[in-house]
Amino acid sequence: MKTYYVDCKKEMDEEGIRKCAEMIREGKIGIFPTETVYGIGTDARNSTAAQKIFEVKGRKSDNPFIVHISDFDMLKQVVKEPNEMEQKLIDAFFPGPFTLILGKKEEIPNVVTASLSTVGVRMPSSAIARKLIEEANTPICAPSANLSSRPSGTRIEDIQEEFDGKVDFMIDGGMSEIGVESTVCKVIDGIPTILRPGKITKEDIMAVTGICRLDSHIFQSATGKVESPGMKYKHYAPKAEALMVYSEDEHTCIDLIKEHIKENTVVIGFEEHRAYFPNTKFYAYGHIGHLEEVMHSIFALLRKVDRENPDFIIIEGVKKEGLGVAIMNRLIRSVSYHYIEK
Ligand code: TXA
Ligand code: MG
Repeated sequence: MKTYYVDCKKEMDEEGIRKCAEMIREGKIGIFPTETVYGIGTDARNSTAAQKIFEVKGRKSDNPFIVHISDFDMLKQVVKEPNEMEQKLIDAFFPGPFTLILGKKEEIPNVVTASLSTVGVRMPSSAIARKLIEEANTPICAPSANLSSRPSGTRIEDIQEEFDGKVDFMIDGGMSEIGVESTVCKVIDGIPTILRPGKITKEDIMAVTGICRLDSHIFQSATGKVESPGMKYKHYAPKAEALMVYSEDEHTCIDLIKEHIKENTVVIGFEEHRAYFPNTKFYAYGHIGHLEEVMHSIFALLRKVDRENPDFIIIEGVKKEGLGVAIMNRLIRSVSYHYIEK
């Protein structure tokens, strides 16, 4: 298959987007940018088309897709009436990097939601994503654009490596602004519960609702019954064996990394720590005090390191607060829970 490429890096190619929207209506599948990460999507009402995405991604069929909408009318078409708490969250965080789990309507086929009675909905703030949904005039179901278990796609070059020739279209919107996937939240017994942390933090939600909790699996592996099927699977993994280390004390952390360096190791950490590793390949994910930089660069960096074929990767952890919650949730999974904290 020849993948139709649309360049929206500098400005929006409206004609190109219209062609992609047409393809969505025909049940074709394609890659599009959002403010979080790229998505691989199709018409959320077309179960045959949605099935193709499971196949191309190698995704387990019990792991549901997020349904992306462009406006509040579309929201009404796909979900049942939100309760008061849910409505507060919608008012505060739509559009944006926030997915809310709500009761689903018949419109959305079972393949999309893995037969759950709920559906995760998100209204992206990305103008390109919104335009695509609007032009297609149908909600778009889309998981992140990466092969199952690999880091999420935040650059078109990384995505082309995995999907060129396997999807009908690709819209290039440049590097994803945020860099990690949306916050996934569900109101359980009246309490907003974060199932997957993201740019919208627990504190952001507390500021609106006065109450919020983190699901207990955010920093742990999960088996059996979980609130969100995605928690059970291997995620964001580089090819080489990887270890994460963390200590609140900077120097303890640096010593811990040094202790574990072997031959052909790559270290990923803060720019300010580069000088401590003169004889080791070192990549910075950002600067101390700027976790938004770490969030923005981490997935692309994991892929870049992969291409160098190291035997071992050591990643410096960050403090589990604010944006650090989402970063550590991704890092812990990317090292397959191989984590030392001192
Ligand atoms: O930022 C994002 O959310 C990106 C962009 C493309 O929008 N999408 C994304 O989709 O990350 P995906 O499929 O890679 O992750 C969706 C997560 C999965 O962990 C899935 O299990 C969970 O959301 N999820 C989806 N529907 C759910 C539901 N009804 N109940 C609980 N969890 C759900
Ligand atoms: Mg994903």
